[in-house]
Amino acid sequence: MNQTFDAPTLIAVKRDGHRLTDGAIDWLIESYTAGHLADEQMSALLMAIFLRGMDAHETARWTAAMIASGERMDFGDLRRDGRPVPTVDKHSTGGVGDKITLPLVAVVAACGAAVPQASGRGLGHTGGTLDKLESIAGFDAALSTARLREQLTDVGAAIFAAGALAPADAKLYALRDITATVESLPLIASSVMSKKLAEGAAALVLDVKVGSGAFMKSPAQARELADMMVELGAAHGVPTRALLTDMNTPLGATVGNAIEVAEALEVLAGGGPADVVELTLTLAAEMLALAGLDRRDPAATLADGTAMDRFTAMITAQGGDLAVPLPVAACSETVTAPGGGTMGEIDAMAVGMTAWRLGAGRARPGEGVQAGAGVRIHRRPGDPVRAGEALFTLYTDTPERFGPACAELDGGYRILGAADTPVVPRPLIIAGDPGMKA
Ligand code: URA
Repeated sequence: MNQTFDAPTLIAVKRDGHRLTDGAIDWLIESYTAGHLADEQMSALLMAIFLRGMDAHETARWTAAMIASGERMDFGDLRRDGRPVPTVDKHSTGGVGDKITLPLVAVVAACGAAVPQASGRGLGHTGGTLDKLESIAGFDAALSTARLREQLTDVGAAIFAAGALAPADAKLYALRDITATVESLPLIASSVMSKKLAEGAAALVLDVKVGSGAFMKSPAQARELADMMVELGAAHGVPTRALLTDMNTPLGATVGNAIEVAEALEVLAGGGPADVVELTLTLAAEMLALAGLDRRDPAATLADGTAMDRFTAMITAQGGDLAVPLPVAACSETVTAPGGGTMGEIDAMAVGMTAWRLGAGRARPGEGVQAGAGVRIHRRPGDPVRAGEALFTLYTDTPERFGPACAELDGGYRILGAADTPVVPRPLIIAGDPGMKA
């Protein structure tokens, strides 16, 4: 490692709005991952980056250094019955009620691709795919590379803990979370893409969320983030497409862990909420196009049960048992309509925070979550509501959480009267692919 660098000088370079050199970025990431750079120094640098930004070249180098901090997998030689199997994955920038990964990996696998999906646990108001899956009895997210390869060959899908992939990101993300430096475009882009490029899928689809429940509140910000990540994919030889999708309202009718798995199973059985089905099929079509399998019909796999078969096979391969009933929270409380009218907008952030207060999410990395906690939404925006009808059901094992949870939900929705402006339905897919750059 080059010893000519020192942290105070490099922090000052970025503080004063200058570029970090390639060597400086490599040194910073290597030193921090190895524990040679103090959290205080990296915190100061992250804040300088947050305020001053990084240009495209710095962001690409920062991403490459994070990838190099761990293992980079490669499934280019995957074969089934002697034929190559294309690999493709998707990543969502995080939303409320976002259980799309569960049906999506199964649909894409049923269409003939292999999906190596490295996932994370939730932090704050956005849920984590692994937290949801771990509500299934026996499910194990820790897969060795050998088991992962075997599962991708036999089943076509695996959802596993990022583990040794981009360990620099795990450290940096935890530090960003406690230093108010998460919402920086180059830091988010490099964080997402370092894990996804290390994971070894040959192509990638990004679901960039926009709205109250997302990191990106405006379509313009989300477009900038999407373009940055598409460029990073291209620079690493991984064809990448991005969709911008609405996250002002939670996806589907459930927010939590086990209750989201139950909803994903409804979708896999050919039913489920229309928005969850629409986003699953839209993302599947993008993934299949990148994998060269666009003659397959993803909707048919939900109708004919082949996606459900793939999902069951994936869960079984990872030790899970879908025959065991999903956990149910010990306590529930229903919020009813005080009067009649029409359900107005439901704020995704408010519902995400409600689920978090109920115990579905964690405040610090490493904390446990309640498998049964969460929120069921009975009336969607635009639905007619009668006085006394159930609007939301809240679930938790710890009833003392109902008070703070109800306080979060209050103000997150409104029953509209005849004199109010009616809800204008928002398109779920805001914008499509900004262009495949590789
Ligand atoms: N998701 C990530 O993986 N990283 C971020 O920085 C934000 C969302």
